[in-house]
Formats: sequence, structure tokens, C-alpha cells
Amino acid sequence: MPASAHRARRRPRGAAPLLAAGAAILFATGLGPAQAGAPPAYLDPRAETDRRVEDLMARMSLEDKLGQMVQIERAAADPAAVAEHRLGSVLSAGGSGPEPNTPEAWADMYDAYQRAALDTPLGIPILYGVDAVHGHNNVHGATIFPHNIGLGAAGDPELVRRVAEATAVEVAATGIDWNFAPCVCVVRDDRWGRSYESFGETPALPSAMTTAVDGYQGARLGGGAASVMATAKHYLGDGATEDGTDRGDVRVDEEELRAVHLPPFREAVRRGVASVMVSYSSWNGVKAHADRYLITDVLKGELGFDGVVVSDFDGVGRISGGRDFTAEELTTAVNAGMDMVMLSKGHDRFVTDLAGEVAAGRVPVARIDDAVRRILTAKVDMGLFEAPFARRDLLPEVGGEEHRALAREAAAASQVLLKNDGGLLPLAPGGGPLLVAGKNADDIGNQSGGWTITWQGGSGDITEGTSILEGIRAAAPDTEVVYDRHAEDTDGPYRAAVAVVGETPYAEGYGDRPEGVVLDEEDTATLTRLAESGLPLVVVVVSGRPVDVADHIGAWDALVAAWLPGSEGAGVADVLFGAVPPTGRLPVSWPRSAEQQPVNEGDGQSPLFAPGFGLTY
Ligand code: GLC
Repeated sequence: MPASAHRARRRPRGAAPLLAAGAAILFATGLGPAQAGAPPAYLDPRAETDRRVEDLMARMSLEDKLGQMVQIERAAADPAAVAEHRLGSVLSAGGSGPEPNTPEAWADMYDAYQRAALDTPLGIPILYGVDAVHGHNNVHGATIFPHNIGLGAAGDPELVRRVAEATAVEVAATGIDWNFAPCVCVVRDDRWGRSYESFGETPALPSAMTTAVDGYQGARLGGGAASVMATAKHYLGDGATEDGTDRGDVRVDEEELRAVHLPPFREAVRRGVASVMVSYSSWNGVKAHADRYLITDVLKGELGFDGVVVSDFDGVGRISGGRDFTAEELTTAVNAGMDMVMLSKGHDRFVTDLAGEVAAGRVPVARIDDAVRRILTAKVDMGLFEAPFARRDLLPEVGGEEHRALAREAAAASQVLLKNDGGLLPLAPGGGPLLVAGKNADDIGNQSGGWTITWQGGSGDITEGTSILEGIRAAAPDTEVVYDRHAEDTDGPYRAAVAVVGETPYAEGYGDRPEGVVLDEEDTATLTRLAESGLPLVVVVVSGRPVDVADHIGAWDALVAAWLPGSEGAGVADVLFGAVPPTGRLPVSWPRSAEQQPVNEGDGQSPLFAPGFGLTY
């Protein structure tokens, strides 16, 4: 089924503006645009999308068109500026949101931008984009789902669709209509700081989990209880850079690039994904943002992608190594096939610079028209002209019980049991006292990871949810559970100890670990004390990727990879106490040591645990 077949009308999202409402009434009475005073055809909700887009484009100046190609960060342009420059889109970069950080304040912010955009001569609504990569994660109180690597371990495409569907509801409640997710990258080196954004190290899992596109958009763009544009990212090969360096160089031949990294995008396009985001990385020295072959010939030509190709944040300005774009970089990117340019600032200069490039004949008008046609098609298909405002009726579902139950289910399904000597797990709900230790036992921020409330995430009670310790206490209400973060007093009639250790939050390059991913000193000291205590020991690793544990695991009776479970830590406890049996399987190779990195299935190396490994009860 061609991608365009997935495009259809969006379910009404809220109160329509006066002009569009008037148009809808007129058209409903059978009066078409031919009648004097009738609103323009592009506002006719009954007309075919192509007809509406062509009618609108015929009314647009070159400056109107160029403005549509800009996606500006909210901090650089208030609603008046967005309207003045006729900008097509606004985004919230990681953690960029209103104060107070509440769902209602997000809806107010979105509606203010939308009202300003509609109050212009052509009244073209904006698209507003965010990274809701594991729930509406910028918003305090929103449900935080497991990051992709945990969902890859769960291995359930329908679960991923349900998680995305719930996320779309929370996103649409705040008005946002464009989600920069799912990341369908194939992580080939866990030293990469974005490993947790990948569903797995081979194309099979990321391809299977493109069900997220259906979850975000509905069965087609505009379907579902709430439909937001999905984004397959980052095109192409971002998970295969040398040494796992974020935004680095992918040094593979075309055969490997096509075999390993292209399949998830092919599948996302087949599902009608509305946008594709280009990667900061390079392929054999050519910046993806400048790569006409990959963007136009392969993605748009061979794969038939007819949606919007969007740059990464200031990705165009980084083509030549700086950050602020030049007219030459704009020309290179737009001629390569970039339709929308994501900017931290410079929206005003964008229009004048690109207009100059068009006037000089360096960017064909036909390329501009193709880009704008794609952008306007998305806006019409989303139904934004008819119902542009936040779905405030959905606000009660943001962080609601139903979504938190789903997040708990997903967290439990993502747990991978790697060791269980003597059947120590599952723990009995009743019996003698339990000792819980480790810095990640009672820390919602650490169990959520990066891209949570802020771009990098952070430790502590950063949002609402249940810590793993709180989950343990709830699972064993009649058991004395003692929390001793560093296990400084192990003397006691404990029947077992549970140590929850691992990584603290990071995002993108800040998570690069070129020397390998190891336990920090705090965790190592805690684990050493526990090993010396002789207590039966369960270790739970909360991390965005495998951690080098080979030298320690011999002293542990049981080991669970919890990944980054999100706000519902009770899902981890469900598995520890057997309410839910462990069913997760490794989505990536677990290295025997950092020296093995990169280690992947079929590379002839012998990891500590192979992909697909996982025990159960
Ligand atoms: C970031 C990321 C990308 C994200 C974008 C907007 O740098 O690379 O995944 O969607 O900027 O926040």
C-alpha cells in the first residue's frame, strides 16, 4: 500500500477558528468557492488534499513558502514573530517548555502560537514538534515509558504500538501535533550515548517496532483517538559511527548501510510515517544533511517517501562544521532534499538568505514548491485547518492511571533475567527482612534516564511516579524492607539483599563512553560490601545499555537488566516477586569487556550474553 494511502482526514481536535468554521458552514450548505464571497478552496474540508494544497500554494508568495520551511525553537520566536515571518513550525527542544511545567500550561502555550498563525492573511496553522520519545517526557506528571532499548528487550510490536498510542493522547492533549519519534536507529556500538534510543543491534527489532508509527499517527495520519505526526530518525546510520561517537562518521560500504540501517526506514515509510529526520552523522565523510543521494534518490525516490524530510537541530549549520547556517549550507541541504529546517535561531535570516539563493538560480523554485507541498499536505491531512487547537478533553489522561498501568506492564515486559543461581528469584512477598541498596533503588530520575523533564534528564524526584524501592515495598507489604543506599550495615536477619545500580541520566554525546561502560565507584563499593556480607544477592542494573559486569557477576546470585524502565518502577518489582515472570530477551550483545566493543551478533566474538538471551522462572 503506497505511503500516501495512509494519509487521510484527521479526527477533529478542538474548537475550529472562526474563518474555518465559517468555511465549513458555507461548504456544508453546498456553496463552493465559485460563489462570491465564499472562502477559498483550500479551506474546504470536503476537497481532496491535493486540491486544497494547490489552491493554497497558488495564493502564496515566495516568502510565504520559504517561511513554511522553517521550524524554530520556541525560545527564539514568540507567537507574534512566528506570525510575522509566516513560519511553518515551532519546536520545543529537550526540556524547553512553559513555566509552570504543567499540561495545561503546555496547551496554553501551543494555542497561543496557533492563534497567532491563524491570524494572518492565509491563516496557515503551524506544526509544533517535540521529542516525546518515551512518553510526553518534557511534561511534569506525564507518564514516562521505558526507553526503546527496554521495549526492544520486551520484543512486542503490539506493546510498542500501544505505548505510542498512549503517548499520542498525552501529546495531543497539550496541542502538540508532531513527535520526533520513533528513533529506528540500529545501535552497533553501545559506547554511543544514544544506545538506549535504539530497539536493537540488528535491523529486525527496529523494523518490527515501527508499529510505533501506527501508535502515534493512528492506522493512518489523522486516525486514532489522537493522531500526531511520527518521525523516523535519524536517517541514516547514526548507530554505526566509529567508536560509537555521537554525530560521528559511519565507515561502512553501501551494501552494509543498506542491509543493516535502511530496513527500519523502509518499514516506517511503508507504514506511512509522516516525517523523517536526517542524522547529524556522516557516511564515509559525507554529512547526511548534505547527502542528495541518500535523501532524494534513496529515501524519496527508491523508498517512495512522500512526507516531510526535516533536519536535525541546527543540523544544516553543522554541514560545514560550524553551527549557524550559511546561505551556501541552506542551498546544499535544500537541494539535497531537505524540506524543513530545524533551527535554534535565525528564522528571519533563513527567508532572506534562501530567497537570495532562489533568485540567483542556485535553488530551483520547483524544489521549494516540492518542500512546501509536502509540509502543507501534512497540515491538511492532520486536519489542522479545521481543528487546530489543543485537545483539552484529553488532559485528564496525562499521567492517568490507565497509562501508568500500561507503563508498568511495559517495564515488567522489558526486564531481562541474566542469572538466577539457586532460584533466588522470584523473591517471596512474605518472610524475613530484605535489604535494598544502590543509588538507583529510590530514584525516579535515574530509572527514567535522559530526555526526561530536561534534555539530559537528572537524578532525584524529577517527576511523578514509583521508584523501584517503592515498588518492592508495595509488592511485599508484610516484609520489613530496609533501604541502605551504600550497604554500610549488612548485619541483620536479612533473607536477601537487592542492589539496584547502574547509570545516571545522559542524552546524546554526553553519554558517549569511548573507554567502555562500567559500574561507577559508588556502585562498586556498595556491591563489594554486599558480596563480603555473604547475603544472597540480587543485582538489578538500571542503565541505557549493557554494563561491563564480568569481573563482578561471580559474586552475585541473580542479575536482572532493567534498562531505563521509566516512571513506573513497580514494573521491575513485579518481576522480582514473580507477579510477572521475566520474558525479556537481550536486544543487544552484552560484552564480556570493553575491549570487545563494538560487539555484535555474528562478528565472531563471544560476548558475556548473546542477543536473544534471557532466563525465566
Ligand atoms: C536533538 C536530537 C534529535 C531531536 C532534536 C530536537 O539534537 O538529535 O533526536 O529530535 O534535536 O530536539
